[in-house]
Amino acid sequence: MKEIEISTKTTQSIIRCGKGAFEAYAPAYKDKQTFIVTDSNVFGYYRHLLWRTFGDRTPIYILPAGESSKTFRYLREILQKMIDEGMRRNGYVIAVGGGVVGDIAGLAASLYMRGIHLVQIPTTLLAQVDSSVGGKTAIDCKNIKNVIGSFYQPEEVIVDPVFLETLPDREIRCGLGEIIKYGALDKDIYSKLTENEARLKDPAFLEDITYSCINHKANVVRLDERETTGLRKTLNLGHTTGHAFELYYRKKSHGEFVLIGMYYELYIAEKHGVCGGRYAENLKKLILKVIKKAPAYEDVGKAAAMAKYDKKNAQSMRISMVVPGVEGKSAELTLGMDEYIAEIEECAAHIREGK
Ligand code: NAD
Ligand code: GLY
Repeated sequence: MKEIEISTKTTQSIIRCGKGAFEAYAPAYKDKQTFIVTDSNVFGYYRHLLWRTFGDRTPIYILPAGESSKTFRYLREILQKMIDEGMRRNGYVIAVGGGVVGDIAGLAASLYMRGIHLVQIPTTLLAQVDSSVGGKTAIDCKNIKNVIGSFYQPEEVIVDPVFLETLPDREIRCGLGEIIKYGALDKDIYSKLTENEARLKDPAFLEDITYSCINHKANVVRLDERETTGLRKTLNLGHTTGHAFELYYRKKSHGEFVLIGMYYELYIAEKHGVCGGRYAENLKKLILKVIKKAPAYEDVGKAAAMAKYDKKNAQSMRISMVVPGVEGKSAELTLGMDEYIAEIEECAAHIREGK
C-alpha cells in the first residue's frame, strides 16, 4: 500500500492507494457520524460492504447512476437529507462511487455548514486516477459542465483496486482516457503506457499506473491548487473539445469524450507545429487502442461551438486548449472561435477520408 500527501496552505489530504486500502482504512469511520453518498449501481454491488463497514444505521443517499444526476435537484436533495439526519459539523460525508458521486458529494460537503469533513472512496478507474484527488467538486447547470462548484479537499482518499472487479469494460476504457491524458503530460507515464500497450487493462498494470497518475496530479495540485498559475490547467489536456462534444452529443461518457477530444486536439497540435512525429503517432495509437476509431461527426462544428463555455477561456470567442507538445510537456493554444471550428471540421473530414 502506498500513501501520497497533498498539503496546501490551508488543507491536508492523504491518499491511501493499493489492494486492501478499503479494509484497512474505511473502518476508522465506523465510530464517527457519517453520511454516505453513492449511486444506484454502486449501492447494488456494495451495500452489504457499506453497512458492514460504516454501520447499518448510517444514512445513505443513493443517486440515480449517470452524469444527469450532477444537478441542483440532487444537490438540494443531498443537503436536505443531511439536515434531516442531523449531520453535525464534525460529521463526515463519505463519497463512494465514480466521478459523478465524488463531484456532487464533495460540493455538498463543502456547502453544508460551510464545510464538513469529506472522504472520497472512488470506485471507477477514472475516479481513482483523477476525479477523487485534488479537491475539484461540481455540478452541471444549464447544459454547462461543472459550472457550479468549489475547491474542497477531501481529508482522505481511499483508492482500492478491489472495486474495479465489478466495473464494466467500458468504464475501464473511460479511466484509460484520463490515464493517456497523464501520458501526454508525464514522460514516465508515457513510457509505461507505450511499453505496456498490450496490457493496458491488466489489473497489475492498472494498479501501478494509478499510483503514477495520482502522484503526477498531487505534484500539480500542491503547486497550483486553485488553477491560478496555469499549471493545473494542464490536467485539462484534451478536455476543451472533449467537454464541448460531451455537452453536445451526450451519448458517451466523460472518459470516452476525453479520448475523442485528445484525438481531435492532437490534429490541431500537429497542424500548429507544437506536436508531431513519432510521438504524436504513438499518442494516437494509444488512443485508438482504447476507442478503435475516432468518430467523424457530420455536425461537428456545432458541437465544437460548445467550447465557448470552457472555463479556461480568458477572452470571449477565443478558445483555449491544452494540447500535447513534446514528450512530457503540454502546450497551450488559443484560437479564434471560427479557426477552432474550422480545424475541428477539418479533422473530422480527415477521419472520414481514412487519413
Ligand atoms: P460515473 O460516476 O458516472 O461512473 C460511471 C459508471 O460506473 C456509473 O454507471 C456508475 O454507477 C458505475 N460504477 C461506479 N463504480 C462501479 C463499480 N465499482 N462497479 C460497477 N459499476 C460502477 O462516471 P466516472 O467516469 O467515474 O466520472 C465522470 C465524472 O467525473 C464526470 O462528471 C466528470 O466531469 C467528473 N470528473 C471530475 C474530475 C475532478 O477533478 N473533480 C476529474 C475528472 C472527471
Ligand atoms: N481533472 C482536472 C483537475 O483536477 O484539475
